[in-house]
Amino acid sequence: MADREHKVEHLDQPFYGPPVLPPVGPPAAAARRRCVADPYALCCRATRVVTIVVIAIGVVALVLWLVSLPNALKAYVDAAELTRFDLGGNNDSSKQQQLLRYNLTVSVSIRNPNRDQAVLYRRLEAVALYGGERFGYVDFPRTRQGRKSTMVIRPSFSGQGVLTGAGTAAFGREKKEGFFNINVKLHMRVRLKVMIFVDSVEYRPDVDCYIRVPDPSNATAVALGFTATRCRVDDFL
Ligand SMILES: *[C@@H]1O[C@H](CO)[C@@H](O)[C@H](O)[C@H]1NC(C)=O
Ligand SMILES: *[C@@H]1O[C@H](CO)[C@@H](O)[C@H](O)[C@H]1NC(C)=O
Ligand SMILES: *[C@@H]1O[C@H](CO)[C@@H](O)[C@H](O)[C@H]1NC(C)=O
Repeated sequence: MADREHKVEHLDQPFYGPPVLPPVGPPAAAARRRCVADPYALCCRATRVVTIVVIAIGVVALVLWLVSLPNALKAYVDAAELTRFDLGGNNDSSKQQQLLRYNLTVSVSIRNPNRDQAVLYRRLEAVALYGGERFGYVDFPRTRQGRKSTMVIRPSFSGQGVLTGAGTAAFGREKKEGFFNINVKLHMRVRLKVMIFVDSVEYRPDVDCYIRVPDPSNATAVALGFTATRCRVDDFL
């Protein structure tokens, strides 16, 4: 009896033995291995790598694009030969229409100033206008212009066409002055050869040349001659 009482007393005493440690965890290396194998962590790391690669490619592409922005073509009318330009045969005066007989050949030099891009002309046409009225038209075949090179085209407009109000008024005035102000336009559809297998998008720059050509029937004007003229050219945009 006394023995049992002693045991109970003993259980009431606080226990001062060595602390009971929690079970020891797995070693650190194993923990890391398990973390890598965790699909979430893997996905996280892959996303980070892909993001860095995409940003790097973007920066390189931007730099390449900025460096390779093409310069606009340059164009000049170097020479113009007008052998015929006369207005006559007022067939229908009520409609103010008169027949223009013309024979004009111009020499246009087109410069590709780009060091890295050749120009592929998918379409190239020259149009001649007088007093805002179109009287001549020449189509050129597809062609390719190398890098940093100059190409000369010689559209030749000849035949006859009808001029109405504005054209006939300008003709009367300019015949007295001895020089005709003729507008030659080039319409083109081009692509730039960026790399061997890569073409740019299609551009449609217009070339606008305002030339002052001596009247072939006026010796004074012919003696004064034609002055080479620079054309206005649209940018590749
Ligand atoms: C005037 O019109 C007639 C027919 O209406 C035509 O035969 C003739 O060639 C025209 N003349 C000129 C200069 O256009
Ligand atoms: C136009 O003029 C050129 C000379 O500049 C001449 O050789 C040619 O035959 C002319 N064309 C026509 C259709 O009269
Ligand atoms: C011929 O041209 C000159 C100079 O361009 C001009 O002064 C003259 O009026 C013209 N002559 C005729 C007959 O149109």
